[in-house]
Amino acid sequence: MAFIVNFLLWIWTIALCCIPHTGADELSHTQSSDVVPKRVAIIGAGAAGSSAAYSLRKYADTSSTPIEITVFERAPYIGGRSTTVNVFDDAAYPVELGASIFVEINYNLMNASRELGLLVSSASHARPKETDDSLGIWDGNEFVFVLQNTNWWNLGKLLWRYGWAPIRTQSLMKKTVGKFLRLYEEPMFPFRSLTAAAAAVGLLDATSTPGSVFLTENNISPDFSREIIQASTRVNYGQNLGLIHGLESMVCMATDGAVAIKGGNWQIFHGMLKSARADIRLNHTATSVQRNRDNTLTLTTKPNGSKKEKQVFDEVVIAGPLQDAGLTFTPSVEKQPDEIPYVTLHVTLFSSPHKISPRFFNLKGANAQPPETILTSLPKGLDTGSDKAGVGPAGFWSISTLRTVDHPHASPAEKHYVYKVFSPERLNADFVKGILGLDDTSDAKDSVNSTIGDLPKQDVSWYHEKIWQPYPFLYPRVTFEESLLSPNIWYTGGIESFISTMETSALMGKNVAALMFQSWQNQHETTVGDDPVVDPEARMEL
Ligand SMILES: Cc1cc2nc3c(=O)[nH]c(=O)nc-3n(C[C@H](O)[C@H](O)[C@H](O)COP(=O)(O)OP(=O)(O)OC[C@H]3O[C@@H](n4cnc5c(N)ncnc54)[C@H](O)[C@@H]3O)c2cc1C
Ligand SMILES: *[C@@H]1O[C@H](CO)[C@@H](O)[C@H](O)[C@H]1NC(C)=O
Ligand SMILES: *[C@@H]1O[C@H](CO)[C@@H](O)[C@H](O)[C@H]1NC(C)=O
Ligand SMILES: *[C@@H]1O[C@H](CO)[C@@H](O)[C@H](O)[C@H]1NC(C)=O
Ligand SMILES: *[C@@H]1O[C@H](CO)[C@@H](O)[C@H](O)[C@H]1NC(C)=O
Repeated sequence: MAFIVNFLLWIWTIALCCIPHTGADELSHTQSSDVVPKRVAIIGAGAAGSSAAYSLRKYADTSSTPIEITVFERAPYIGGRSTTVNVFDDAAYPVELGASIFVEINYNLMNASRELGLLVSSASHARPKETDDSLGIWDGNEFVFVLQNTNWWNLGKLLWRYGWAPIRTQSLMKKTVGKFLRLYEEPMFPFRSLTAAAAAVGLLDATSTPGSVFLTENNISPDFSREIIQASTRVNYGQNLGLIHGLESMVCMATDGAVAIKGGNWQIFHGMLKSARADIRLNHTATSVQRNRDNTLTLTTKPNGSKKEKQVFDEVVIAGPLQDAGLTFTPSVEKQPDEIPYVTLHVTLFSSPHKISPRFFNLKGANAQPPETILTSLPKGLDTGSDKAGVGPAGFWSISTLRTVDHPHASPAEKHYVYKVFSPERLNADFVKGILGLDDTSDAKDSVNSTIGDLPKQDVSWYHEKIWQPYPFLYPRVTFEESLLSPNIWYTGGIESFISTMETSALMGKNVAALMFQSWQNQHETTVGDDPVVDPEARMEL
């Protein structure tokens, strides 16, 4: 195979040198002015779609390949599951409603932030830090662990309680991350088949077993797994270790250098699309893809509030979960992705002058104050086996104190705290009252059935509720959806059952861009070398 490729390169070189009066520069010049631009449609302006556009523009620019990128997004904003809302509707107080952090080894996001000139800040910089205990793990009855610092590897206290488990976990995490990062580089990158690539770097052991089994096999103690690692899988994915696979469990422990973009992570994706010089069509829902005789693709889109439109493209990228896209294909795609169950997550953001109630968390003593971030886990005995998907007695996944804000209408000025709660069900008013330590007597209303919006303004000064389908249930598996569903129809969503993050979606966007670009080069070489027997698969595996 390598021989065929070398042979082709050799032919190509000869062709370049031997065409009279046409140097390489001139050739690429003629290419860019004469060749019809490649028309690429990207469906979805989230991490994956934006990254696909960003990379494609880079590949095209370095080789002077003319391309036209059009991005269709059904929502009225760029960012997808990465988006902010403003506390008090004040643009001075944006908070993340979806994806909130990324980490230092997330090279696609880190590099793009730098290239786009965005301000990266420590994920916890805005926390009020009024308590010493900044992170606690609540099992529904008591705090099983409290940490002065949100970095897991603040080792002293962990070692004291859990022996060698933290060290073993850290080295297992590093080993696993090391394997994953091989996907970023040649010869693994770009990968047509994520399944084959994951096998080649040795990650299928981790994806094929539940976290609980993976950790036991690697001699990590059950207490550390349940109290620390499971608290992390719950806040990040709303799943316990009996369900979520080993690889994603390890991703949850890779928290070094957690950061966010000041003002909102969506700015990375906005910047990527601008830099890609993409034609961005917001409020446009793509509804169908039809293959034409000449292999071009007709995309039908529906702008909100007006009639359907049709446009012809050479390539279409589906950059989001296909099952949720409402797309029809004529003819149907050759590699139809499986439907994947997604988690339902309720995110409740709210502001209040009240602190988190010590009473709610059974804390006694005059100065007792709960940690600013509270993660939850299952109590001992109610372990992963018996309650795989359940939230357990805690009733919620996490609550965090994001920042303080000045209430706009209070005089004298009043400081309010902004909280974020993740839960599997909508919060009721009783829960919110409990968390804020409000007395139950005043309210005649049935507060089991009432919600946060029914509480008085002086207690809850602002709130925003959102139901997301944020990530799949990460059941153990050994195969992942293909990135090429049919010729010229590309898909990024397969990576979500492997690792579901902004970074991995961005990686898949770049991967699809690289594969697409390679396929153009192959076509070009086929025509120039006049050798129709080139097997594009052979080039893909390069
Ligand atoms: C509450 C929450 C917390 C999270 N926390 C983190 C975190 O801290 N760190 C992290 O890295 N990740 C986190 N995630 C996960 C992360 O948000 C996602 O993995 C990532 O943003 C997915 O990007 P994507 O581009 O693949 O998909 P999406 O962001 O979903 O983008 C797909 C886009 O396609 C659009 N679309 C779909 N169908 C059509 C159609 N037919 N026509 C036009 N447009 C269409 C959608 O509107 C959407 O904008 C979190 C997610 C949520 C919801
Ligand atoms: C999209 O729709 C929203 C709500 O209807 C509207 O406010 C916004 O201006 C639209 N955006 C674009 C770019 O058309
Ligand atoms: C446009 O329509 C889509 C699909 O019907 C919907 O998801 C989206 O929220 C709408 N956008 C606006 C701005 O109304
Ligand atoms: C990020 O940037 C560094 C330094 O320029 C580079 O070596 C690395 O390959 C880049 N990685 C990605 C994924 O862009
Ligand atoms: C809450 O509403 C449900 C039905 O809407 C009702 O059956 C239930 O009795 C209500 N709960 C209380 C405490 O009133």
